[in-house]
Amino acid sequence: MLLLLWVSIIGRISVVVGANSYSRDDFPTGFVFGSGSSAYQVEGAANIDGRTPSIWDTFTHAGKIHGDTGDVACDEYHKYKEDVKLMAETGLEAYRFSISWSRLIPNGRGPVNPKGLEYYNNLINELVIHGIQPHITLHHSNFPQALENKYGGWVSPQMVKDFTAFADVCFREFGDRVKHWTTMNELNVFVILGYDAGFAPPCRCSPTFGVHCLEGNSSTEPYIAIHHMLLAHASAFRLYEKKYKVKQHGFIGINIYSVGFSPLTESTKDEIATQRANDFFLGWILDPLIFGDYPNIMKTKAGSRIPTFTSIESKKIKGAFDFIGLNYYMSAYITDLSISLKLESRDFFTDAAIMFACMNFFYLFIFFPLMPYGLVGVLEYIKQHYGNPAIYIHENGQRSQRNSSLEDWSRVSYLNAYIGSLLDAIRNGSDVRGYFQWSFLDVFELTDGYGSSFGLYYVDLEDSNLRRIPKLSASWGGVMGSSVDPLG
Ligand code: NOJ
Repeated sequence: MLLLLWVSIIGRISVVVGANSYSRDDFPTGFVFGSGSSAYQVEGAANIDGRTPSIWDTFTHAGKIHGDTGDVACDEYHKYKEDVKLMAETGLEAYRFSISWSRLIPNGRGPVNPKGLEYYNNLINELVIHGIQPHITLHHSNFPQALENKYGGWVSPQMVKDFTAFADVCFREFGDRVKHWTTMNELNVFVILGYDAGFAPPCRCSPTFGVHCLEGNSSTEPYIAIHHMLLAHASAFRLYEKKYKVKQHGFIGINIYSVGFSPLTESTKDEIATQRANDFFLGWILDPLIFGDYPNIMKTKAGSRIPTFTSIESKKIKGAFDFIGLNYYMSAYITDLSISLKLESRDFFTDAAIMFACMNFFYLFIFFPLMPYGLVGVLEYIKQHYGNPAIYIHENGQRSQRNSSLEDWSRVSYLNAYIGSLLDAIRNGSDVRGYFQWSFLDVFELTDGYGSSFGLYYVDLEDSNLRRIPKLSASWGGVMGSSVDPLG
């Protein structure tokens, strides 16, 4: 596998060591390299210019992320010009960011907030001026608290209409410059954490996990929430198709959290459990989009707890995408858990009946092996099972402690290894259109606030100006950007 040794001297010189190296030119025409963020994690300015609280504001203000909040975050709301300039200098070709629904349409429904409109217009214009493609996510694991209060957010079908109205405003106002829209960010993980495990807002879960639990029924709500999110996605997609596509020529997709699963042993049980893991994680979203219904195994396991698509809904959702976005961070070995599970109350986890296991030791969500070829595996699986849809890798990156060294060699190796695997997958025929490193800056992390970092740029929280300082990995952008070729 590729081994690139990067030396960051004046002008960024890189040295290639090893037999298999790659360069920007190895990627297909039109392929984009970018980096990303999401509104709550980067914007700050939480209480100004008409923005109303989102479910993440409520969650963090209740002290759920050890007191850290996104109130200020990286203050990109005020520093977007500086950030876009940095992106251009880094060589990024695209920036993936999300629109805060609470900022654009305070309280979720009703008049558009002129200040919100102005901010996103400014950001988009700045990107376009610098030749950076805006790739926008509409729902990055967040929505206005007012809609949770009003009817329970995604557990209610009313969200479908309100989300479509929000999407309509975005397409209308920004669609002349924005050609890549993602309706939902990793909806599978959003519902698992927010409607089952309770580790994230809206914190509706059963007492089984209980830690942060407010209310809810984890045996049904994850399935109901996804159902409404899929219907909302399809509704926004069909709206764009009908009202905007001809004029704007944009593309609409949805984003899924993916994991490279392999069976822990060669036993038939573990192989079946691995297929189940793929069905529960990927199939939950991809099967409706490609075949018009949930995977059979999910319907069998969840029975009447998983909602049913009417034939009209099924038609509407089938084929409702131009691309699939994947977030990919890790691989996991899977072992079967069905025999040991005799719980009375069922939820996503017990229905899936799998255990994430590594190196013959069982660690649940604690340690996962770094296996770049797992990405090839996921892409191959999708190619074979779902007819090779167009894919964007929307997130991939390495978590480290926030205050670790600026010489982040391990992040550089991580990125090189994963991008190399991505190239392998493309050479194997997967239709991948772009790669977005997560994250451009050290943002507010959804799982642990300011405790960890994924950024190419360190953000100095002690500095009143929130100074951005490049890490060694910031020169990664140079490899991918067309302006610099450090391999040459
Ligand atoms: C996926 C989420 O989309 C993003 O918001 C988060 O920061 C990263 N995972 C890293 O945890």
